[in-house]
Amino acid sequence: MPVSERTRILIVGAGPAGLVLGNLLRAADITCVIVERQSRAHVEQRGRAGFLAPDVVRVLDENGLAKGLHAAGQLHGTCAFRGEHGQFELNYGELGQRQVHTVYPQQQLVADLIAEFLDRGGDIRFGTTVTAMHGLDGDSPSIDCRETDGRTYRISGEYAAGCDGQHGVALRQMPAGAAQGFRRYHGVTWLAILAQAPPSMTAVTYAVHDRGFAGHMARSATVTRYYLQVPRGEAPGDWSDARIWDELGTRMRTGEYGPLREGPILERATVDLSSAVSVPMQYGRLFLAGDAAGLISPSAAKGANLAIVTARTLAVALTDALARDDQRGLARYSDACLPRMWHAQEFSHWMVNLLHGPAADGEDAAFMRLLQRARLVSLRDLRSHQDYFAENYVGI
Ligand code: APR
Repeated sequence: MPVSERTRILIVGAGPAGLVLGNLLRAADITCVIVERQSRAHVEQRGRAGFLAPDVVRVLDENGLAKGLHAAGQLHGTCAFRGEHGQFELNYGELGQRQVHTVYPQQQLVADLIAEFLDRGGDIRFGTTVTAMHGLDGDSPSIDCRETDGRTYRISGEYAAGCDGQHGVALRQMPAGAAQGFRRYHGVTWLAILAQAPPSMTAVTYAVHDRGFAGHMARSATVTRYYLQVPRGEAPGDWSDARIWDELGTRMRTGEYGPLREGPILERATVDLSSAVSVPMQYGRLFLAGDAAGLISPSAAKGANLAIVTARTLAVALTDALARDDQRGLARYSDACLPRMWHAQEFSHWMVNLLHGPAADGEDAAFMRLLQRARLVSLRDLRSHQDYFAENYVGI
């Protein structure tokens, strides 16, 4: 396919990573094209977590990307744990570094970032799939694009950014000999539920139960996110509204703590909690950012935060390379991102162990369940554990 267009930076994917990168490049007057296989309406409505760390809010603020977030985001500094040990709240905004989350739905942030990118004269192609990437080890990488009507074309650039998640095209370009993908399935599957129902509690609530984990997270005055740990391979369709509310009630111990505010279930989907890290996050002139560079289990809601900070690091490095002929940031890109990524992975893994009991029964499982209880009691009673939790839960 002949090259039909040229730009400076090729960006695959219009999630938080691709859009933050595109906005920062436009602010530095660097031309780029963002190619996104979904429609604009689809990405602006895709409901996902929205817990943003203060460092991430600062990055968005410093780059003129936080207007909507300041207008409609809500500060959140408390979470609660329920279990056999009783219920306790952690006011993490008063612990550790005394930091709080800003809760702002990810799809709203994505909509703001798209509007701002277009205002900055950005070029974004929705409904266009990148089917192949070429010349990544040379000095003029290119991408093949296919629009929904079947039209195909090739764009070349100086660098390519893979911001297209774990199942995109960019990660598949990393040659086995040059990069290693480290991955782990945490042995836990969640049924993620969106209910047309007001929140039942004021705080994010994590319930630990011998039947499995259950979680409660407010989304808005009328919509609430719940999670239920289920066996791997379970079909979401097997979970009727009545069965979901019944199981949530048992694990949330509504007999002791009061009923849940029920409503129709809008969405139910299973997620296998898994993590993956690409080492390095770069091959030739291809740089990975966001979920493509490292996937994190949703247990500590860090995915969008890591996506935004890796995109910022990449934007600064690309700007130095293109505007100042300084390649040092690009050469260090992986080394700059990986310590933060592993630190976040370690805390997410700690959260997975805190919230979920052993999958099987037996003597070993009984021991693990008692360890889990001891961990929760330490979190309830020991200030040092609470500070550790607070610092890592909000930090990035
Ligand atoms: N061509 C074009 N676009 C693609 C392709 C492709 N071949 N493959 C994937 N995409 C697009 C997807 O449609 C998606 O919109 O890449 C985008 C990747 O966006 P995200 O999944 O939002 O990933 P990222 O920007 O890294 O943000 C990570 O989003 O996955 C959630 O919860 C996760 O919070 C985390 C954050």
